[in-house]
Amino acid sequence: MKRKLFISFFMAALCVFILGAAGSAFAGHELVGSPKCKTCHKAKTGDQWKIWTESKHANAFETLASEEAKKIAAEKGLGDPQQEDACLKCHVTGAFLGSEVVVSAKGKYVPGEGVGCEACHGPGSTYKSKKIMTDPAAAKEAGLLRDLSEAACTKCHNDSSPTFKDFDFEKRWAEIAHPVPEKE
Ligand code: HEC
Ligand code: HEC
Ligand code: HEC
Ligand code: HEC
Repeated sequence: MKRKLFISFFMAALCVFILGAAGSAFAGHELVGSPKCKTCHKAKTGDQWKIWTESKHANAFETLASEEAKKIAAEKGLGDPQQEDACLKCHVTGAFLGSEVVVSAKGKYVPGEGVGCEACHGPGSTYKSKKIMTDPAAAKEAGLLRDLSEAACTKCHNDSSPTFKDFDFEKRWAEIAHPVPEKE
Protein backbone atom coordinates (compact mmCIF):
# COMPACT_ATOMS: atom_id res chain seq x y z
CA MET A 1 0.00 0.00 0.00
CA LYS A 2 2.66 2.45 1.07
CA ARG A 3 4.67 1.54 -1.97
CA LYS A 4 1.75 2.19 -4.34
CA LEU A 5 1.24 5.56 -2.73
CA PHE A 6 4.89 6.35 -3.23
CA ILE A 7 4.73 5.33 -6.90
CA SER A 8 1.70 7.52 -7.59
CA PHE A 9 3.38 10.43 -5.84
CA PHE A 10 6.45 9.81 -7.93
CA MET A 11 4.44 9.71 -11.18
CA ALA A 12 2.62 12.91 -10.27
CA ALA A 13 5.89 14.63 -9.47
CA LEU A 14 7.35 13.39 -12.75
CA CYS A 15 4.40 14.82 -14.72
CA VAL A 16 4.76 18.20 -13.04
CA PHE A 17 8.46 18.05 -13.79
CA ILE A 18 7.98 17.19 -17.48
CA LEU A 19 5.24 19.79 -17.98
CA GLY A 20 7.33 22.36 -16.20
CA ALA A 21 10.36 21.61 -18.33
CA ALA A 22 8.35 21.69 -21.56
CA GLY A 23 7.01 25.12 -20.74
CA SER A 24 10.36 26.63 -19.83
CA ALA A 25 12.64 28.75 -21.98
CA PHE A 26 15.23 25.98 -21.72
CA ALA A 27 12.99 23.11 -22.81
CA GLY A 28 15.23 20.37 -24.14
CA HIS A 29 18.44 22.29 -23.36
CA GLU A 30 20.39 20.76 -20.49
CA LEU A 31 23.35 22.03 -18.50
CA VAL A 32 26.53 20.14 -19.38
CA GLY A 33 29.04 22.13 -17.29
CA SER A 34 32.01 24.29 -18.33
CA PRO A 35 34.50 21.35 -18.45
CA LYS A 36 32.58 20.12 -21.52
CA CYS A 37 33.36 23.40 -23.31
CA LYS A 38 37.00 23.06 -22.29
CA THR A 39 37.36 20.04 -24.61
CA CYS A 40 37.53 22.40 -27.61
CA HIS A 41 37.89 25.94 -26.27
CA LYS A 42 41.58 25.69 -25.39
CA ALA A 43 44.78 27.30 -26.74
CA LYS A 44 44.05 26.81 -30.47
CA THR A 45 40.80 28.80 -30.41
CA GLY A 46 41.84 31.63 -28.08
CA ASP A 47 41.88 29.74 -24.76
CA GLN A 48 38.45 30.77 -23.51
CA TRP A 49 38.87 28.03 -20.88
CA LYS A 50 42.00 29.56 -19.35
CA ILE A 51 40.62 33.11 -19.45
CA TRP A 52 37.48 31.96 -17.68
CA THR A 53 39.24 29.83 -15.04
CA GLU A 54 41.43 32.82 -14.20
CA SER A 55 38.41 35.13 -13.90
CA LYS A 56 36.48 35.67 -10.71
CA HIS A 57 33.43 34.07 -12.30
CA ALA A 58 35.04 30.64 -11.88
CA ASN A 59 35.52 31.38 -8.20
CA ALA A 60 32.05 32.78 -7.49
CA PHE A 61 30.84 29.76 -5.50
CA GLU A 62 34.04 29.62 -3.43
CA THR A 63 33.60 33.31 -2.62
CA LEU A 64 30.39 32.41 -0.79
CA ALA A 65 32.46 30.44 1.75
CA SER A 66 34.49 33.51 2.77
CA GLU A 67 34.16 35.29 6.10
CA GLU A 68 32.97 38.37 4.24
CA ALA A 69 30.17 36.36 2.59
CA LYS A 70 29.09 34.82 5.89
CA LYS A 71 28.97 38.26 7.47
CA ILE A 72 26.84 39.69 4.65
CA ALA A 73 24.45 36.72 4.93
CA ALA A 74 24.22 36.95 8.72
CA GLU A 75 23.32 40.65 8.48
CA LYS A 76 20.42 39.67 6.21
CA GLY A 77 19.29 36.95 8.63
CA LEU A 78 20.41 34.23 6.19
CA GLY A 79 22.35 31.03 6.91
CA ASP A 80 25.29 29.52 5.01
CA PRO A 81 25.59 31.58 1.77
CA GLN A 82 26.55 28.43 -0.18
CA GLN A 83 23.09 27.06 0.66
CA GLU A 84 21.01 30.21 0.24
CA ASP A 85 19.26 30.79 -3.08
CA ALA A 86 19.37 34.54 -2.34
CA CYS A 87 23.14 34.30 -2.92
CA LEU A 88 23.40 31.33 -5.29
CA LYS A 89 21.15 32.95 -7.89
CA CYS A 90 24.01 35.23 -9.00
CA HIS A 91 27.01 33.13 -7.94
CA VAL A 92 26.15 29.76 -9.53
CA THR A 93 25.08 28.90 -13.12
CA GLY A 94 22.30 26.44 -12.23
CA ALA A 95 20.65 28.67 -9.64
CA PHE A 96 20.97 31.67 -11.98
CA LEU A 97 19.24 29.88 -14.87
CA GLY A 98 16.48 28.78 -12.48
CA SER A 99 14.98 25.62 -11.11
CA GLU A 100 13.48 24.62 -14.48
CA VAL A 101 16.87 24.03 -16.08
CA VAL A 102 17.82 20.34 -16.14
CA VAL A 103 21.34 19.16 -15.35
CA SER A 104 22.44 16.65 -18.01
CA ALA A 105 23.19 13.21 -16.59
CA LYS A 106 25.93 12.86 -19.22
CA GLY A 107 27.50 16.24 -18.47
CA LYS A 108 30.04 17.47 -15.94
CA TYR A 109 28.08 20.27 -14.30
CA VAL A 110 28.67 20.94 -10.60
CA PRO A 111 27.57 24.08 -8.69
CA GLY A 112 31.20 24.58 -7.63
CA GLU A 113 32.05 25.92 -11.10
CA GLY A 114 30.43 29.21 -10.10
CA VAL A 115 29.38 31.46 -13.01
CA GLY A 116 30.24 29.13 -15.90
CA CYS A 117 30.16 29.40 -19.70
CA GLU A 118 26.50 28.40 -19.83
CA ALA A 119 25.38 31.20 -17.50
CA CYS A 120 26.09 33.58 -20.40
CA HIS A 121 25.89 31.32 -23.46
CA GLY A 122 22.90 29.16 -22.42
CA PRO A 123 22.64 25.45 -21.53
CA GLY A 124 24.90 23.55 -23.91
CA SER A 125 23.58 20.00 -24.43
CA THR A 126 21.97 20.91 -27.75
CA TYR A 127 24.76 23.03 -29.32
CA LYS A 128 28.00 21.47 -28.00
CA SER A 129 28.59 18.96 -30.82
CA LYS A 130 31.32 19.97 -33.28
CA LYS A 131 28.99 19.89 -36.27
CA ILE A 132 26.59 22.38 -34.69
CA MET A 133 29.22 24.52 -32.93
CA THR A 134 31.09 25.31 -36.14
CA ASP A 135 27.89 26.43 -37.91
CA PRO A 136 26.85 29.74 -36.29
CA ALA A 137 23.27 29.58 -37.61
CA ALA A 138 22.78 26.01 -36.38
CA ALA A 139 24.34 26.85 -33.02
CA LYS A 140 22.00 29.77 -32.53
CA GLU A 141 19.07 27.59 -33.53
CA ALA A 142 20.23 25.04 -30.94
CA GLY A 143 20.11 27.64 -28.17
CA LEU A 144 23.62 29.17 -28.12
CA LEU A 145 23.38 32.75 -26.90
CA ARG A 146 25.61 35.05 -28.97
CA ASP A 147 26.04 38.76 -29.58
CA LEU A 148 25.58 39.34 -25.89
CA SER A 149 25.52 42.89 -24.63
CA GLU A 150 25.54 44.74 -21.34
CA ALA A 151 22.05 43.40 -20.54
CA ALA A 152 23.52 39.90 -20.15
CA CYS A 153 25.79 41.22 -17.39
CA THR A 154 23.42 43.46 -15.50
CA LYS A 155 21.19 40.49 -14.70
CA CYS A 156 23.76 39.98 -11.91
CA HIS A 157 25.83 43.17 -11.86
CA ASN A 158 23.12 45.36 -10.40
CA ASP A 159 22.24 46.99 -7.11
CA SER A 160 20.49 43.93 -5.69
CA SER A 161 24.01 42.54 -5.23
CA PRO A 162 24.98 43.24 -1.61
CA THR A 163 28.51 44.34 -2.65
CA PHE A 164 27.50 46.33 -5.73
CA LYS A 165 29.38 49.56 -6.40
CA ASP A 166 29.08 50.24 -10.10
CA PHE A 167 29.25 48.46 -13.45
CA ASP A 168 31.10 49.92 -16.40
CA PHE A 169 30.42 47.46 -19.24
CA GLU A 170 33.33 48.43 -21.53
CA LYS A 171 35.83 48.25 -18.70
CA ARG A 172 34.54 45.07 -17.13
CA TRP A 173 34.17 43.26 -20.45
CA ALA A 174 37.79 44.07 -21.30
CA GLU A 175 38.82 42.22 -18.12
CA ILE A 176 37.16 38.96 -19.21
CA ALA A 177 37.09 39.19 -23.04
CA HIS A 178 37.83 35.83 -24.74
CA PRO A 179 37.80 36.30 -28.53
CA VAL A 180 38.57 33.65 -31.12
CA PRO A 181 41.93 34.98 -32.50
CA GLU A 182 41.11 35.09 -36.24
CA LYS A 183 38.26 37.45 -35.53
CA GLU A 184 40.25 40.02 -33.56
C1 HEC B 1 33.38 19.68 -29.99
C2 HEC B 1 34.10 20.93 -29.76
C3 HEC B 1 33.36 22.05 -29.04
C4 HEC B 1 32.69 21.99 -27.83
C5 HEC B 1 32.50 20.80 -26.92
C6 HEC B 1 32.21 23.35 -27.59
N1 HEC B 1 32.59 24.18 -28.62
FE1 HEC B 1 32.09 26.15 -28.83
N2 HEC B 1 32.97 26.19 -30.68
C7 HEC B 1 33.75 25.17 -31.20
C8 HEC B 1 34.32 25.62 -32.46
C9 HEC B 1 35.30 24.81 -33.34
C10 HEC B 1 33.85 26.94 -32.67
C11 HEC B 1 34.18 27.87 -33.85
C12 HEC B 1 35.37 28.72 -33.50
C13 HEC B 1 35.70 29.66 -34.60
O1 HEC B 1 34.92 30.59 -34.85
O2 HEC B 1 36.75 29.47 -35.20
C14 HEC B 1 33.01 27.26 -31.53
C15 HEC B 1 32.35 28.47 -31.36
C16 HEC B 1 31.73 28.87 -30.18
C17 HEC B 1 31.14 30.17 -29.97
C18 HEC B 1 31.09 31.28 -31.00
C19 HEC B 1 29.95 30.91 -31.92
C20 HEC B 1 29.77 31.78 -33.12
O3 HEC B 1 28.62 31.88 -33.57
O4 HEC B 1 30.76 32.32 -33.64
C21 HEC B 1 30.68 30.19 -28.67
C22 HEC B 1 30.00 31.34 -27.97
C23 HEC B 1 30.96 28.89 -28.09
N3 HEC B 1 31.58 28.11 -29.04
C24 HEC B 1 30.66 28.51 -26.80
C25 HEC B 1 30.73 27.20 -26.32
C26 HEC B 1 30.27 26.78 -25.02
C27 HEC B 1 29.66 27.69 -23.98
C28 HEC B 1 30.49 25.43 -24.92
C29 HEC B 1 30.14 24.50 -23.78
C30 HEC B 1 28.73 24.42 -23.40
C31 HEC B 1 31.10 25.01 -26.17
N4 HEC B 1 31.24 26.10 -26.99
C32 HEC B 1 31.49 23.72 -26.47
C33 HEC B 1 33.92 23.91 -30.66
C34 HEC B 1 33.30 23.43 -29.51
C1 HEC C 1 22.04 40.30 -8.00
C2 HEC C 1 23.14 39.36 -8.03
C3 HEC C 1 23.85 39.01 -6.74
C4 HEC C 1 23.30 38.52 -5.58
C5 HEC C 1 21.84 38.27 -5.27
C6 HEC C 1 24.41 38.28 -4.68
N1 HEC C 1 25.60 38.60 -5.27
FE1 HEC C 1 27.44 38.57 -4.41
N2 HEC C 1 28.25 39.40 -6.08
C7 HEC C 1 27.56 39.71 -7.24
C8 HEC C 1 28.47 40.36 -8.17
C9 HEC C 1 28.08 40.84 -9.56
C10 HEC C 1 29.71 40.47 -7.54
C11 HEC C 1 30.99 41.10 -8.07
C12 HEC C 1 31.21 42.43 -7.42
C13 HEC C 1 30.58 43.50 -8.23
O1 HEC C 1 31.18 43.96 -9.18
O2 HEC C 1 29.43 43.89 -7.91
C14 HEC C 1 29.55 39.84 -6.23
C15 HEC C 1 30.57 39.74 -5.28
C16 HEC C 1 30.42 39.18 -4.03
C17 HEC C 1 31.49 39.06 -3.06
C18 HEC C 1 32.94 39.47 -3.28
C19 HEC C 1 33.17 40.83 -2.70
C20 HEC C 1 33.56 41.85 -3.69
O3 HEC C 1 33.53 43.03 -3.33
O4 HEC C 1 33.90 41.51 -4.83
C21 HEC C 1 30.95 38.50 -1.93
C22 HEC C 1 31.67 38.18 -0.63
C23 HEC C 1 29.54 38.27 -2.21
N3 HEC C 1 29.26 38.69 -3.51
C24 HEC C 1 28.64 37.70 -1.32
C25 HEC C 1 27.27 37.56 -1.57
C26 HEC C 1 26.35 36.99 -0.58
C27 HEC C 1 26.72 36.50 0.81
C28 HEC C 1 25.13 37.01 -1.16
C29 HEC C 1 23.81 36.57 -0.56
C30 HEC C 1 23.41 37.24 0.65
C31 HEC C 1 25.28 37.57 -2.50
N4 HEC C 1 26.61 37.87 -2.71
C32 HEC C 1 24.25 37.77 -3.40
C33 HEC C 1 26.21 39.47 -7.49
C34 HEC C 1 25.30 39.05 -6.54
C1 HEC D 1 30.14 36.47 -18.03
C2 HEC D 1 29.58 35.98 -19.27
C3 HEC D 1 30.38 35.00 -20.09
C4 HEC D 1 30.97 33.83 -19.65
C5 HEC D 1 31.00 33.27 -18.24
C6 HEC D 1 31.55 33.23 -20.81
N1 HEC D 1 31.33 34.00 -21.92
FE1 HEC D 1 31.91 33.61 -23.82
N2 HEC D 1 31.27 35.44 -24.44
C7 HEC D 1 30.63 36.36 -23.63
C8 HEC D 1 30.43 37.59 -24.39
C9 HEC D 1 29.76 38.85 -23.86
C10 HEC D 1 31.01 37.37 -25.67
C11 HEC D 1 31.17 38.38 -26.83
C12 HEC D 1 29.88 38.79 -27.40
C13 HEC D 1 29.20 37.64 -28.02
O1 HEC D 1 29.71 37.15 -29.01
O2 HEC D 1 28.18 37.21 -27.49
C14 HEC D 1 31.49 36.00 -25.67
C15 HEC D 1 32.09 35.37 -26.77
C16 HEC D 1 32.52 34.06 -26.79
C17 HEC D 1 33.06 33.36 -27.95
C18 HEC D 1 33.15 33.94 -29.34
C19 HEC D 1 34.41 34.75 -29.51
C20 HEC D 1 34.52 35.34 -30.90
O3 HEC D 1 35.54 35.97 -31.14
O4 HEC D 1 33.61 35.19 -31.72
C21 HEC D 1 33.39 32.09 -27.56
C22 HEC D 1 34.02 31.02 -28.42
C23 HEC D 1 33.05 31.98 -26.16
N3 HEC D 1 32.52 33.19 -25.74
C24 HEC D 1 33.22 30.84 -25.40
C25 HEC D 1 33.09 30.78 -24.01
C26 HEC D 1 33.48 29.65 -23.20
C27 HEC D 1 34.01 28.35 -23.74
C28 HEC D 1 33.24 29.99 -21.90
C29 HEC D 1 33.58 29.22 -20.64
C30 HEC D 1 34.92 28.65 -20.53
C31 HEC D 1 32.66 31.34 -21.91
N4 HEC D 1 32.60 31.78 -23.21
C32 HEC D 1 32.24 32.03 -20.79
C33 HEC D 1 30.23 36.16 -22.33
C34 HEC D 1 30.63 35.11 -21.51
C1 HEC E 1 25.21 34.85 -13.20
C2 HEC E 1 25.60 36.14 -12.68
C3 HEC E 1 26.63 36.93 -13.46
C4 HEC E 1 26.59 37.32 -14.79
C5 HEC E 1 25.52 37.01 -15.83
C6 HEC E 1 27.80 38.10 -15.01
N1 HEC E 1 28.53 38.17 -13.86
FE1 HEC E 1 30.34 39.07 -13.65
N2 HEC E 1 30.43 38.43 -11.72
C7 HEC E 1 29.45 37.72 -11.05
C8 HEC E 1 29.87 37.43 -9.70
C9 HEC E 1 29.08 36.66 -8.65
C10 HEC E 1 31.16 37.99 -9.56
C11 HEC E 1 32.04 37.95 -8.32
C12 HEC E 1 32.75 36.65 -8.21
C13 HEC E 1 33.70 36.61 -7.04
O1 HEC E 1 34.25 37.65 -6.63
O2 HEC E 1 33.92 35.50 -6.55
C14 HEC E 1 31.48 38.62 -10.85
C15 HEC E 1 32.69 39.26 -11.13
C16 HEC E 1 33.00 39.88 -12.32
C17 HEC E 1 34.23 40.56 -12.61
C18 HEC E 1 35.39 40.71 -11.65
C19 HEC E 1 35.07 41.92 -10.83
C20 HEC E 1 36.10 42.26 -9.82
O3 HEC E 1 35.70 42.85 -8.80
O4 HEC E 1 37.27 41.93 -10.03
C21 HEC E 1 34.14 41.06 -13.89
C22 HEC E 1 35.19 41.87 -14.62
C23 HEC E 1 32.84 40.66 -14.40
N3 HEC E 1 32.18 39.94 -13.43
C24 HEC E 1 32.36 40.98 -15.66
C25 HEC E 1 31.17 40.56 -16.18
C26 HEC E 1 30.70 40.87 -17.53
C27 HEC E 1 31.42 41.75 -18.51
C28 HEC E 1 29.51 40.22 -17.69
C29 HEC E 1 28.63 40.18 -18.91
C30 HEC E 1 29.27 39.81 -20.18
C31 HEC E 1 29.23 39.50 -16.46
N4 HEC E 1 30.24 39.74 -15.57
C32 HEC E 1 28.11 38.70 -16.23
C33 HEC E 1 28.24 37.32 -11.58
C34 HEC E 1 27.86 37.48 -12.89
